[in-house]
Amino acid sequence: MTDRSPGFATLAVHAGAQPDPTTGARATPIYQTTSYVFNDADHAASLFGLQAFGNIYTRITNPTTAVLEERVAALEGGTAALATASGHAAQLVAFQMLLQPGDEFIAARKLYGGTINQFKHAFQSFGWNVAWADPDDIGSFERAVTPRTKAIFIESIANPGGSITDIEAIAAVARKAGVPLIVDNTLATPYLIRPIDHGADIVVHSLTKFLGGHGNSLGGIIVDAGTFDWSRDNKYPMLSEPRPEYHGLKIQETFGNFAFAIACRVLGLRDLGPAISPFNAFMIMTGIETLPLRMQKHCDNAKAIAEWLSKHPAVAQVNYAGLPSDPYNNLQRKYAPKGAGAVFTFALKGGYQAGVDLVAKLKLFSHLANVGDTRSLIIHPASTTHSQLSDEQKTAAGAAPDVVRVSIGIEDKEDLIADLEQALGA
Ligand SMILES: Cc1ncc(COP(=O)(O)O)c(C=O)c1O
Repeated sequence: MTDRSPGFATLAVHAGAQPDPTTGARATPIYQTTSYVFNDADHAASLFGLQAFGNIYTRITNPTTAVLEERVAALEGGTAALATASGHAAQLVAFQMLLQPGDEFIAARKLYGGTINQFKHAFQSFGWNVAWADPDDIGSFERAVTPRTKAIFIESIANPGGSITDIEAIAAVARKAGVPLIVDNTLATPYLIRPIDHGADIVVHSLTKFLGGHGNSLGGIIVDAGTFDWSRDNKYPMLSEPRPEYHGLKIQETFGNFAFAIACRVLGLRDLGPAISPFNAFMIMTGIETLPLRMQKHCDNAKAIAEWLSKHPAVAQVNYAGLPSDPYNNLQRKYAPKGAGAVFTFALKGGYQAGVDLVAKLKLFSHLANVGDTRSLIIHPASTTHSQLSDEQKTAAGAAPDVVRVSIGIEDKEDLIADLEQALGA
């Protein structure tokens, strides 16, 4: 071993993992077990009282999942992480630690549609109120702050439009308001952007997308930056007040700079229950080992295809931050210099019907509702995910009738362009 701190690609392969102490297995085994035998009654009592770390039950911790958690925490530059059954579950658990009924949080308007639904409907039914702000107008975040604001939520690269968010500017608003900034880093992955380096306090992911990367396993994760003082102003009682279920223990006081991750685990995961399966943790961890290779190829392919589309006579507009003409190009150069990601939208001159025809004619692209697969994917939001909205609402959501969204895979770009060419030209 040397004193060098390991680089990103080394961490992607090794962080959190050791040869299995019992068998010597080099790949992390899938610990497909629900529960763990205690050494004796004292050991059991100390685990239940949080006086010792160890495994009790897979809803709370699992040794396979622990390697995934340590790996993503290392890649994001956080103090600790906890994995969940899906990206949505990660958001649910993170917010449950922060909000009491009647509290508010501010969210960027440009978000994955499922997250907008979660915030607008499910969270509303818990008494957690969202105020929307425009990520292109930092002042709109400042104006939305009230005494009940408990967090700010943004996506680093927004789904579906692929726009880049000015994380540092919004982190400054959060700091001034005394609330944590939560960044959904799903479309960027830590290979392109590390939000904690730009002032984020919490990072969440849908591991289902580029981190797992192969379109085969759902998962989510919450990364604790360890930067936020949860005891300030008594705003976050779950973290700062004595917990009756743990003999009056105060989580922030006891666990310091990984208090948020611990609270999410021993209160959120334990009580709400959305644990990831060890098998999915294994699949996603295996995906992460090739993240730097895949992500660079995704970005290089996406840029080549965006450039090609921008010159095609059937295409009205391409929204890809990696194009020099794109309004987000400056932010992309600052935050994601290695590439603008692989999810973007483009508009067709032929309108709604051209979108329907395009997805029908493509052969290599799969028409489905996902992003971040090795395979190239396409969806026409106006006829699928956003079909229930009026044309005006579709346009506001970045899903106008003439718009299609692609997630560019790691195939040969010449084959992808040939597929687009036959579908657009025919
Ligand atoms: C940016 C983003 N965040 C969160 C989610 C939700 O993740 P999951 O489907 O794993 O619950 C998605 C899903 O598409 C997403 O694109």
